[in-house]
Amino acid sequence: MEQIINSSTVKKFILPGVKQVIAVASGKGGVGKSTVAANLALALAAEGRRIGLLDADIYGPSQGLMMGVPAGTKPEVSNDLLQPIIAHGLQCMSMSFIASDRTPAVWRGPMASGALQQLLTQTDWQAVDVLVVDMPPGTGDIQLTMAQNVPLAGAVIVTTPQDIALLDARKGIEMFRKVEVPLLGVVENMSTHVCRECGHHEAIFGEGGGDAIAAEYGVRLLARLPLAMDIRLQADGGQPPLVADPNSDTSQLFGAMAREILMALDNNVDAGPVIQIMED
Ligand SMILES: Nc1ncnc2c1ncn2[C@@H]1O[C@H](COP(=O)(O)OP(=O)(O)OP(=O)(O)O)[C@@H](O)[C@H]1O
Ligand SMILES: [Mg+2]
Repeated sequence: MEQIINSSTVKKFILPGVKQVIAVASGKGGVGKSTVAANLALALAAEGRRIGLLDADIYGPSQGLMMGVPAGTKPEVSNDLLQPIIAHGLQCMSMSFIASDRTPAVWRGPMASGALQQLLTQTDWQAVDVLVVDMPPGTGDIQLTMAQNVPLAGAVIVTTPQDIALLDARKGIEMFRKVEVPLLGVVENMSTHVCRECGHHEAIFGEGGGDAIAAEYGVRLLARLPLAMDIRLQADGGQPPLVADPNSDTSQLFGAMAREILMALDNNVDAGPVIQIMED
């Protein structure tokens, strides 16, 4: 199967090891894309699928840390392909497995896009049902390359409820719409803060933003995730909630999100095979 994407000036080829790719994105930095990507990937795996996790953040990769991959772990290379690092049952690939901490920061746009393309296509993905791509913040070259050059089966947009994040989320949504990538839904992260001492809920970043943007674009609000100390400690400690506490409220929210996304993906089997597009 090969899917043709509008331009006649591009060559494409199939990524043999992957059935469908979804991107977790947002216009704004620090809203929780990586946290959502990691936990969503784990929740999808808990539904019995084979899942890959690609950290597309070339400048600030975080999945090595979040997935508890020991610093300094390097992927093996066989047949000129990088073998994914298996962490918590997921096939993972990240620039942090390959480059030293300082190298990526000096890359300019085209180099970074090239590096991302290499990570994607030169990893020996092993019969992955869904590859979850943790996108870098923003809507610049790298994001556009990814949105355009990989036939994404869908995108999940992460936002926090405050106006400035919503404004940036809108830019992210518009970018995917422009290149005709289906929107799987919006995740409102850091919705309300739940005090660990007294259980009091406080909407630190405001209320209803996720609902509003989902309604504006006619897409689903997949989840409202609380701003919770446990999420940060577990995610940044290499044991995301889905691993640390699979029955927690947070894990169940991700479970429901995963099932909804799988339903959308399974109903859209023609979303396309995974292909890389090579500019002439
Ligand atoms: N719901 C939450 N509750 C508490 N902490 C959270 C929550 N979501 C994310 N965090 C924490 O916020 C920080 C930023 O999250 P994360 O790295 O996932 O954001 P990001 O959007 O991927 O950032 P970047 O744009 O830099 O890639 C992390 O320390 C993470 O653990
Ligand atoms: Mg991130």
